[in-house]
Amino acid sequence: MPETLFTGISRLVTPPPGPQRGAAMRELTMWKDAALLVRDGMVAWVGAAKDAPNAEHTHDLGGAAVVPGLVDPHTHAVWAGDRLADFEARLAGVPYEDLLARGGGIRSTVRATAAASEDELARLAAPRLQALLRSGATTTEVKSGYGLDFAAEGRMLEAVREVGASFPCALVPTLLIHVPPPEEREAYVRGVCEDLIPAVAARGLATAVDVFCEREAFTVAETRTLLTAARARGLGVKLHADQFHALGGVELACGLGALSVDHLEASGEGQIQALAGSNTVATILPGVTLHLGLPAAPARRLVDAGARVAVGTDLNPGSSPLFSTSLALALAVRLNGLTPAEALTAGTVNAAAALGLTDRGALTSGQRADFLALHSADWRDLVYTLGANPVRDVFVGGRLTKENGL
Ligand code: NIG
Ligand code: FE
Repeated sequence: MPETLFTGISRLVTPPPGPQRGAAMRELTMWKDAALLVRDGMVAWVGAAKDAPNAEHTHDLGGAAVVPGLVDPHTHAVWAGDRLADFEARLAGVPYEDLLARGGGIRSTVRATAAASEDELARLAAPRLQALLRSGATTTEVKSGYGLDFAAEGRMLEAVREVGASFPCALVPTLLIHVPPPEEREAYVRGVCEDLIPAVAARGLATAVDVFCEREAFTVAETRTLLTAARARGLGVKLHADQFHALGGVELACGLGALSVDHLEASGEGQIQALAGSNTVATILPGVTLHLGLPAAPARRLVDAGARVAVGTDLNPGSSPLFSTSLALALAVRLNGLTPAEALTAGTVNAAAALGLTDRGALTSGQRADFLALHSADWRDLVYTLGANPVRDVFVGGRLTKENGL
């Protein structure tokens, strides 16, 4: 596709490229009656329609608001089985951590997922990823972590690759070291460092390693060992931390230069200051607050302290069955106190930075031409609408994806 000029844009709204922190998260550029020139899948020019250059092709968007494609920086979209019995038990008062401690929760999903073939996992994951795409995600991270044994972890990552081969948007795979086996955890950690991480790195199956640092999962010391092994193999590192208890994972991650620390529902002032003083992205997951009834991560205070905040769905069967990336932003505005402008930055350039990417998330010259045309002429509808899809068309590299049935 050589060159297309997109016209009929009531408002084009974008953060600047690259990660933004603190008050800069509110500084959006807004073009009224705008046009967008795409050349070879990249943004070549953006501005007022009256100043637009001529182009070979034009595409009239009919008065829609246009925003950058969203980046979903945290999903567990590959799983088998379900957690509906857990859900009922939790509604009856059993805490999430107790289900896990009894061998249910994440461990029940591990049993179902480890028993599934790679093709079955890919078949289950594809419609979930399509739902995220329809909701506006043009880049989506997908974690392993329900395999536990190394072959099953490999099947999960191969399933991501299988779906990604014919998927219209970018999928970014992460190796998640989720829960230790009930016995021989020391040997397991050693095996992950000496066998699994080197094998995943050598086969290019993941770009980063994530660890669940929590009382019912890995200690801070184990997490340090795992992340150090990941870095030694040239992989990025990130962390699930402070979901239930602030154990020191945030401080560890910031010290190691992690790409992101995710969850943060139990974070306090010390963790907020550590994140504000680092380049590590603070990724909040409001679907978990809604579904588990946890405290909301302190995103308002994180932004005010000067941190880089991102938002993700955390799509997974246990803590966040949230199949919409734009709804995650809408929840971050209600539950975590972000402004609409901050939420847009959190869901685009900052979410990209949480994956180590700076080539996307903004509609400025030289960025990937991943963008959304909304049903509304006002971009704020993206974080206003609940329960219907505010996204009309999803463009990846300037091409309209056919996934949007609405
Ligand atoms: O991000 N907390 C750890 N991991 C996932 C939940 C996984 C599950 O419950 O299946 C999370 O919340
Ligand atoms: Fe998660």
